Amino acid sequence: MDQSAPLRLVSPNFSDILTPNIEIGTFPDGDSHVHIPHLNSFKGKEITLFHRLYPHQNHSFMELFLVLDALNEVGAKVTVVSPYLPYARQHKKLLEGEVASADVVCRMLRMMGCEKFVTFDCHFLNEEGESEYCGLKIQNHSLSKALVAHAKQVFGGEGFEIIGPDQGANYLVKQHGGQSMKKVRQDYKDNTISYRNIEKLEGELDVEGKNVLILDDMISTGSTMIKALERMKECGAKKICCAASHGLFLHDSLERLQALAEKVFVSDSIPSPVSAVSIKDQLSI
Ligand code: R5P
Repeated sequence: MDQSAPLRLVSPNFSDILTPNIEIGTFPDGDSHVHIPHLNSFKGKEITLFHRLYPHQNHSFMELFLVLDALNEVGAKVTVVSPYLPYARQHKKLLEGEVASADVVCRMLRMMGCEKFVTFDCHFLNEEGESEYCGLKIQNHSLSKALVAHAKQVFGGEGFEIIGPDQGANYLVKQHGGQSMKKVRQDYKDNTISYRNIEKLEGELDVEGKNVLILDDMISTGSTMIKALERMKECGAKKICCAASHGLFLHDSLERLQALAEKVFVSDSIPSPVSAVSIKDQLSI
């Protein structure tokens, strides 16, 4: 083994990709409990820590903070690899008194000793590569090439157009010559201030008689993807596939999408029954 290579610590929630070597459990009241065997052997070392922050994001953040605290104690320098960053969608304050949760989680990660955060298609970043956000160094990888490569297999050699459902997804589709629609949301409703329904997706797209891959950074409630599918059907698209880097698939959104599309697939940043592309290849692990 290369003695200069960073050591790896792997959380149990990464066991589909790497063998866990730290223990994370829960006390009867729900508090998290962390045990890092041989903690002192990591004194002053460079560590890469693999830990997912979704599902159960609040709990998973707390687990990560406990692990980071223990590693801080022995002076380790820690790079955290978490393929999907929860809270990243709220990075703007639209209402007075709203909190930009993306800023908060980044500041907290930095404060807890995360030297660098490695993730995939982070919602508030519009390109791949290294950047800094609220004091946190972030390495943003994109899954778009791997998802487009998978779509080529699914379409079996037939050509296809790549369409983003909104401008946020534009960096994913632009590099493949694709175009994005524009998402128009309704106003806030008094009783649902945390979410604005989608009114429509705008944009003139020439997809009549063509196959289409709709590509987005994430599918959460599926509302965006379903609207995009309906729009592509109205425009006369032939076969339509839906892909995203992160598949949260809340409620029955996966079934609803599968009923409308030729194929739905995502990466294993969040493991799901339709994870067809692995983050492993991009992390060289
Ligand atoms: C939004 O800007 C994102 O790119 C996704 O389109 C959105 O977060 C997906 O959420 P949902 O599945 O709830 O529409």
